[in-house]
Amino acid sequence: MPVTTQQLIQWKQQRRSIVALTAWDYAIAQILDAAGVDLILVGDTMAIVLGYETTLPITLEEMLHHAKAVRRGVKRALMVVDLPFLTYQESPQQAMYSAGRVLKETGAQAVKMEGGYPLMVETIARLVQAGIPVMGHVGLTPQSVHQLGLKQQGKTQEASERILLEAIALEQAGVFSIVLEHIPSDLALQITEKLSIPTIGIGAGVHCDGQVLVTSDVLGLSEKQPPFAKVYVNLRETITKAVQDYAVEVRERKFPE
Ligand code: KIV
Repeated sequence: MPVTTQQLIQWKQQRRSIVALTAWDYAIAQILDAAGVDLILVGDTMAIVLGYETTLPITLEEMLHHAKAVRRGVKRALMVVDLPFLTYQESPQQAMYSAGRVLKETGAQAVKMEGGYPLMVETIARLVQAGIPVMGHVGLTPQSVHQLGLKQQGKTQEASERILLEAIALEQAGVFSIVLEHIPSDLALQITEKLSIPTIGIGAGVHCDGQVLVTSDVLGLSEKQPPFAKVYVNLRETITKAVQDYAVEVRERKFPE
């Protein structure tokens, strides 16, 4: 049975932890889906896989292109696509147009957007009223890298209260779930206990209702990882070795046999 947004909310109630990862193409999506990942995010961190320095340059067209490939690989997981920088912040109309394109053209079930109160609240409420499921994202929001850097957020009393209020405002606006990125674990716990929708943490400690990581970090494909990422396998090393072995065999005329 395909995972739905309502199911994620039920899993929170049942305290079943939600497993989320990012994907950027058909093969990766197929592997993650078959391995039982619950939520597959076509995150704008895909920009890094495409060789950009930050998530800012990636365009809606690039996200749509990759999201269509991911869709072809996903049968069970809930598929969510990030709206990239400046494709939704300008106005609710701009957000509606971008989110509408994502749902119509890729077959994804939901969109994610960064930011909270006050800018995103009205926009998200309008999208939800139009039938578009939206995932929120607060704490470290990489599209604001030039304002926030990539450091942990919510460390002062004032900053942590602001993030809590943003999360509450996003729930009231109608998000079905919310990503908490790089915030202290006790703040993530407070938000998770306060909200009825599931929190999905990345660098936010163990108390969230689920966890997400960037798959290229998990697989050891990224050149550098954030401090909270865990590398489960070093594919950079594995691929380098395979390619070197192939090169030796071609040069020594051992392949093909
Ligand atoms: O773009 C992305 O991969 C994300 C995750 C970091 C949650 O937003």
